[in-house]
Amino acid sequence: MKHWHPVTDQDGIVWLGLHTANPGLNTLSKEVLEEFVVLLDGFDQKPPTGLIIHSEKDSGFIAGADIEEFTTLDTADKATELVARGWHLMNRLARVPYPTLALIRGVCLGGGLELSLACRYRIAVESPATRLGLPEVLLGIVPGWGGMHRLPKVIGPQAALDMMLTAKSVDARRAKRIGLVDLAVPPRLMNRSARLLVTSGKPAKRASGLAAILNHPLARPFIAAMAKRQVAKRASRQHYPAPYAIIDLWQKADGDPLRAPALLDQIVRSPTARNLVRVFFLQERLKGFGKSAEVKIHHVHVIGSGVMGGDIAAWCALRGMRVTLQDQTMDRIKPALSRANTLFQKRVRDPLKRRDVSDRLIPDPQGAGVAHADLVIEAIFEDLSAKHALLQWLEPKLKPNAILATNTSSLRIEDLRTVLKDPLRLVGIHFFNPVAQMPLVEVISAEGTSPQAVTAALGFVRAIDKLPLPVKSAPGFLVNAVLAPYMLAAMRAVDEGLSPVQIDAAMRDFGMPLGPLELVDTVGLDIAMAAGQALANGASPPQCLTTKVAQGHLGKKTGQGFYRWENGRITTPITAAPGPAGLTTRLINPLVEQTQRLVTDGIVADADLADAGVIFGTGFAPFRGGPLYWQSTMT
Ligand code: NAI
Repeated sequence: MKHWHPVTDQDGIVWLGLHTANPGLNTLSKEVLEEFVVLLDGFDQKPPTGLIIHSEKDSGFIAGADIEEFTTLDTADKATELVARGWHLMNRLARVPYPTLALIRGVCLGGGLELSLACRYRIAVESPATRLGLPEVLLGIVPGWGGMHRLPKVIGPQAALDMMLTAKSVDARRAKRIGLVDLAVPPRLMNRSARLLVTSGKPAKRASGLAAILNHPLARPFIAAMAKRQVAKRASRQHYPAPYAIIDLWQKADGDPLRAPALLDQIVRSPTARNLVRVFFLQERLKGFGKSAEVKIHHVHVIGSGVMGGDIAAWCALRGMRVTLQDQTMDRIKPALSRANTLFQKRVRDPLKRRDVSDRLIPDPQGAGVAHADLVIEAIFEDLSAKHALLQWLEPKLKPNAILATNTSSLRIEDLRTVLKDPLRLVGIHFFNPVAQMPLVEVISAEGTSPQAVTAALGFVRAIDKLPLPVKSAPGFLVNAVLAPYMLAAMRAVDEGLSPVQIDAAMRDFGMPLGPLELVDTVGLDIAMAAGQALANGASPPQCLTTKVAQGHLGKKTGQGFYRWENGRITTPITAAPGPAGLTTRLINPLVEQTQRLVTDGIVADADLADAGVIFGTGFAPFRGGPLYWQSTMT
């Protein structure tokens, strides 16, 4: 066998290890499932005392189906065949007469969890990497290999729908608490526990009490209606049909996708699924940029503890790095530490681990950390002479191989580096605000920038669990450069008499997370004005912007911009407000055209990377697959 390795122990228990031939995580490709069928045929002839399925890869249990195969589903028959293959196989596994157990260590997602749910027992091994979940909805598809059928029966429909509709995964302990696994055990006890449980004769876990009652056909319409109301708050059926299909299939077909072939075909071959699968691969491509870094970053020194520097420092500490944070005085650092504590409270439940994270973030008003840091990031005021003075002070103190980076959003690397003895070592590492939420980080190189510095910067970005995008030095890099003409078009429309709500509603309807004017309000009208001037090639700013800035209406931070803001929220609801015909095209075209221009100019390497940058840097409607891809499907 190429992927599965069965070993029978002295008690007649078969330990079935999975080590798929492809590098990386185990996935359930067609070939892997075909081998599994052969194994089950053999067990039919000679049933084992018990069957324990485990992974022989350190990287985890099973990451899911093989997503590459989704890209080949160009006919309804192929789509149904793929779903039927897994659905029937999991049913067969669930019916075998001998006891079965999934021993889960590391990631157990999608098809991996569906296979585990078809086993009589499940054990989750307590390790930081163990996560169980059904994230299919993120790819625009449904857990059609038994997930929708079995998960509600095991943990109750409310918890099950919550997991399937939000794609949230759970760790070993939580899996035990919600009844998803029979046991959560430390690694040293896993094999013993598996052997005891598989031969225990205990009944399989089932939801009980209220959770069981809610699975009754009479209760399902109520639960389904509630779930749909929740989903509708986040995603429209038109753009994201999969979550609605999950609810319908559970309610009306007990989670059997083959009972609703038309719906299944519509989901699996929808543009949304195709585009979300594309986005998945784009994301993998960005992750790949971090892989070749040889320099490992252990200690980061951040200078400037304002909005950006403070949050960058906190994020790096959260992701395991030692961080020294410098500013002009201790008083300036304090607010950043308090924001960091709020982040740590939210992200790290275990108080001991949280203390470790806090201990890794060290205030350093004197800048003593510079001499020890593997990477120094400057995030001080956006002022060329202030940055020059700082860089000159810094350079002689750096370790010889330390990476020197700037988080500037509008100054040119070429201008910043003129004061350095070794100008080619300066690289841009451009984070987005808010740091904790934005997945993309642009890594900027100018003419001649040291390739080692760029590679190390890409590796660092990946090491802190962000998505690195290599971009050439140019005004606004990629993301701000494409946002500027988009926001400008929206403000010009205001000058022509359209209401902000009309404009923002049109773009939300298109699938943007925020309308362009909400975005201007969030960024700050003064910042938009400055950025616009830098990027506008001498064009005059929109009248509405000039007036509001003169009035001191700078957006969210002053409580008034294009909208009124209270407690960080807009007071007027942005609901559908019909605008003139062609409004959406008129607003989005400048963004698409600018993205194309940056590809043509070589600022980003190709159209796919530009799409990835715009999706992960601006939230551009992922179900459309990126601006350039979307445009190519329109023509
Ligand atoms: P900020 O004004 O919030 O913070 C700047 C901090 O730098 C202040 O705490 C100040 O005391 C400190 N500082 C100034 N000179 C210093 C020096 N010589 N030594 C030590 N500390 C010094 O600024 P913000 O918004 O955090 O921006 C920082 C950098 O990040 C800028 O280059 C900006 O272009 C860039 N950026 C800003 C984004 C944003 O949304 N605010 C987004 C992405 C990049």
